[in-house]
Amino acid sequence: MDAASSPSFLPAEVYRSETIAAIERERYAPRFWHPVAAEAELPRHHVRAVEILGAPVLLCHGSDGVMQAFRNRCPHRAVAFREPGEGSVSCRRLVCPYHGWTYDLRGQLLAAAREAEFVAPFDRREWPLERLGCRVLGSLIWVAPGSDPIPLEEQLDLPLREAGPALEMSLVPLAFHEQTLACNWKIAHDNTLDDYHVAIAHPTTLHRLQGPVRHYRHRFGTWANVLSTPWAEPAAANAPATAARIGAEGEFLTYGLPPWNHLLLWPDGRLAMIQFLPECLDRCRMQVWLLGPGERQAEGAALMAEMAQFLAEDRALVESAQRGYGDGFRTGPPHRLEARILHQQAIYRRLVQPW
Ligand code: FES
Ligand SMILES: [Fe+2]
Repeated sequence: MDAASSPSFLPAEVYRSETIAAIERERYAPRFWHPVAAEAELPRHHVRAVEILGAPVLLCHGSDGVMQAFRNRCPHRAVAFREPGEGSVSCRRLVCPYHGWTYDLRGQLLAAAREAEFVAPFDRREWPLERLGCRVLGSLIWVAPGSDPIPLEEQLDLPLREAGPALEMSLVPLAFHEQTLACNWKIAHDNTLDDYHVAIAHPTTLHRLQGPVRHYRHRFGTWANVLSTPWAEPAAANAPATAARIGAEGEFLTYGLPPWNHLLLWPDGRLAMIQFLPECLDRCRMQVWLLGPGERQAEGAALMAEMAQFLAEDRALVESAQRGYGDGFRTGPPHRLEARILHQQAIYRRLVQPW
């Protein structure tokens, strides 16, 4: 294959263009489901305000056990019912703070103030909250903010096929980590799909967990891809204390998922979800949930500290790459161990095209 027809990375301009960023918001991100909270963070009779792609969303867990998501804006004059800073709030009714319209947790209008005095005939049934797609999978709550999402089962094609039972386990949050990265989200996403750098850039952290590069295996679905590595057995003697203590056998699976997510599954039942939420062209917000069996809760801080070591190493690299992605940079040739980047970038190209 000659250089002109070989696969290449996205051009650097795509990381610097406000026009492209607007297309990502309109045509790329809304096609997917977004993990927004751990299921265990929202018990029955609780609501939680979150933001998805800059828009206010309300998660409601009703007394019937049904989890639902609505636009967090009152159908009367668009005011939010709750604010994200409140976290999960015990609640049986949603009362709008502006004019007091009152909803149940299924989004039906129960009452409006001075209901007989609207200027036109008023029917409560015509004013439900605006519902969004909402599912619970992998102990996480997923929301589809767009009107035309691909099915969640397709977005998670590979993990569901390979690790369905692990995703059905009921896990509790062990730790959460959030941090701003001074880079375009695609640089952070690419980096987490990059299996070429691990041995070089994380010699004493992630590389020890993942073991020798010769054991790396890639698999590709339509939407998701995976790096599987034997779980740390050859490296167990050198592995950090926590990994050695857990000592489960099997595969450590790192799934890359659109639009900007990474699902990590350990054979001991732990699950991590990492996402890189765009804030502006040169800044994104990394969020990391770590979930696991309830008996591991006491270990949460130590397990997250272990992840934080290689995430800090990655932060220095992605912020450096961001500075280098200025005018005149042309990306170099992809390596075999960067095939997962090309796979996710092909999805991105299909949805964001043309340029
Ligand atoms: S904006 Fe909610 S009742 Fe008016
Ligand atoms: Fe890394």
